[in-house]
Amino acid sequence: MIRYIEEDAVASRERGEEGKVNLPHFFFLMPFNLVGNLVLSRDLLSSRSKEGKEFFDAMNEGATYIRPCQEIKRNMVREMGRAMKIMSSFVEDRIDEVKLRKEKPTKDLLDALLEHTGEGTISNQNEMFFAGSETTSSTMEWAMAELLRNPESMKKAKEELDRVIGVYRKIEEGDMDNLSYLQAVTKETLRLHPALPLLIPRNGMRETNYFGYLIPRRHRSLGQNFELIPFGSGRRICVGISLAHKVVHLALASLLYYFDWELGNNMSPEAIDMNKRFGITVIKLIPLEAISKKRVMYP
Ligand code: HEM
Repeated sequence: MIRYIEEDAVASRERGEEGKVNLPHFFFLMPFNLVGNLVLSRDLLSSRSKEGKEFFDAMNEGATYIRPCQEIKRNMVREMGRAMKIMSSFVEDRIDEVKLRKEKPTKDLLDALLEHTGEGTISNQNEMFFAGSETTSSTMEWAMAELLRNPESMKKAKEELDRVIGVYRKIEEGDMDNLSYLQAVTKETLRLHPALPLLIPRNGMRETNYFGYLIPRRHRSLGQNFELIPFGSGRRICVGISLAHKVVHLALASLLYYFDWELGNNMSPEAIDMNKRFGITVIKLIPLEAISKKRVMYP
């Protein structure tokens, strides 16, 4: 992600522009490729790939809810169909690859799923892409928007990174425990901008007698055992919570450590538009753009 952002900023300056980067584009690629590596053992999208842009657009378009109901349904079927098609092509590639394989390499999640179903049902793996990509990228976009809007907080977060990481070193997962200000920034972002503010509604499918308590059909139930509410609660809490926790911190730390950020065009921090758009997740209505200026070379 850091490299893609740097390349994009350089290309923009070479075109004589000021080097503004469309942040959600890169923030989306990062968790998408991360899940790609977990499930399929490879990066799926590059910063310029056609599928990357199409998938991103399909997720956004398919889940825009401020329109008449019929149109929402039509749109969702069409755009989610596009996203599923892209996803299915990755799986078909794998099925072809497996046929040509001479040796058995170490299995990844997709191998296990394909073996299990025999037919290549891919819904479990798709759920991870849908559930893990936009939630993570929109959280990062809101975090950066809040930091750009609050230069004092941006300064404190960077000072903490310089103190903990030092001048020239690769950021590691183990550093996160020592970045308490950054952790507070993430928690505050999740409080102000939960990706799924209404969580996922759960209804009982049939009337149930639970230890003498009658729970009617279609009764809306809420979770228990609350941990970090933006991730839900109880048995259906986000399965990616610990991964998301690590990824968001690591990515934000890298963005702030490797780059200085400016808004450009003499734009003041208060002028950042913070309006929201309700889709699969609550995203920024106007995608966040900022100028990245490299401050630390990648080791
Ligand atoms: C900041 C990032 C994330 C946020 C805010 C978030 C939030 C949530 C929420 C609120 C739910 C619904 C919980 C409920 O039904 O009560 C959920 C479900 C889920 N999340 Fe996440 N999530 C994030 C990242 C991830 C990641 C990185 C993955 C996986 C790679 C992931 C995988 C899932 C899956 C598979 C479900 C469905 C679980 C189920 O239905 O049982 N999430 N997430």
